[in-house]
Amino acid sequence: MTATRINHARTLFLDTPDVARLLGLLGLPAALRLLTDRLRMEYLRWPDFDKAARIATYSPQGVIELMPITDGHAYSFKCVNGHPGNGAVGLPTVMAMGALLDCDTGRVRLLSELTLTTALRTAATSALAAQALARPGSRSMALIGNGAQSDFQAIAFHALLGIRDLRLYDVDRSASVRLQRNLAASGLDRLQVRVCDSLAQAVRGADVVTTVTAWQGAARVLTADLLEPGVHLNAVGGDSPGKTELDPAILPRASVFVEFPPQTRKEGEIQQMAADFPVTELWQVLAGQAPGRVDERQVTLFDSVGFALEDYCALSFLQAAATQHGVGRWVEIVPDQDDPRDLYGWMLARERFASVPA
Ligand SMILES: NC(=O)c1ccc[n+]([C@@H]2O[C@H](COP(=O)([O-])OP(=O)(O)OC[C@H]3O[C@@H](n4cnc5c(N)ncnc54)[C@H](O)[C@@H]3O)[C@@H](O)[C@H]2O)c1
Repeated sequence: MTATRINHARTLFLDTPDVARLLGLLGLPAALRLLTDRLRMEYLRWPDFDKAARIATYSPQGVIELMPITDGHAYSFKCVNGHPGNGAVGLPTVMAMGALLDCDTGRVRLLSELTLTTALRTAATSALAAQALARPGSRSMALIGNGAQSDFQAIAFHALLGIRDLRLYDVDRSASVRLQRNLAASGLDRLQVRVCDSLAQAVRGADVVTTVTAWQGAARVLTADLLEPGVHLNAVGGDSPGKTELDPAILPRASVFVEFPPQTRKEGEIQQMAADFPVTELWQVLAGQAPGRVDERQVTLFDSVGFALEDYCALSFLQAAATQHGVGRWVEIVPDQDDPRDLYGWMLARERFASVPA
């Protein structure tokens, strides 16, 4: 009897249609819940990870970033861009891809799209932070900036925080109308969605204010005069040097929570403050090692920039869910060799190689 040789080198590949199908099978609210649970679990083992601020390459139009992380067993990276002007050439502002590798062999287990997945993991991380920091019983949210990320933010806050009253504002009203239409088609239970005529109208009396705008510069999307006691700010769009969303006068009036301080001090809203501006790391709040919200009138701010741990977590989530549901396909990005040292011999044996005239 001849033993079947196992191809140890194959990699699970997920493109964007695969991830869309997977999310359709799981249901988006359920996927967000599962991912948020996983994020909490991974944030709780924060000390296990070898962490670094992402490596960024800047151009006048935007940024390309490489985001690696490992816990010594698995290694992941994401390559992501941020180009706010991309709409003019028919491309998304944010696009991403990434991989999950075994540390003991370097084998690539999963190669995946991360554009859709970035929107998912960013929304799940925002909801995780808000669960710890927003006033209990928060029901209303202003959602400022109604582009690609916004639908996911809306659905995550509805599913995980119980937001029922959603006020939309975008400098481009058609973006808010699009978002309202998508949310109506999503059949979310008891979610009221209003398109607002001004930022002030959206923000007034809201329990949570999410800013998720894209502009290559120091914007003042939210000004200090609009700040109300007890609000939770989920600032997502300011995530690169020179690219911020909040009036700096807001920051000393808020308790600020961050993912990984060395990265956020360069990229987040707090880049506008002194290098020793006090912040609390989100993982410490989740682990009960630092207080989150301590009173009803406190303004809390999650200064989100996106950290590699969230992509590690999203990639592991995709791998588990895709394997369970049979989504994706196996690809050979490493040759399937009888003799791993005979790379040249393996190439010679390929039909395509042999058919090229010498
Ligand atoms: N923190 C994170 O982890 C994370 C993850 C993904 C994206 N982002 C950031 O989130 C932002 C949004 O990403 P996207 O993919 O939704 O971009 P997008 O280009 O699809 O949408 C951005 C929207 O913001 C609107 N806008 C711009 N300036 C505004 C203003 N002053 N007031 C109101 N609306 C305004 C635009 O009209 C547009 O509709 C980007 O800046 C991106 O870099 C952060």
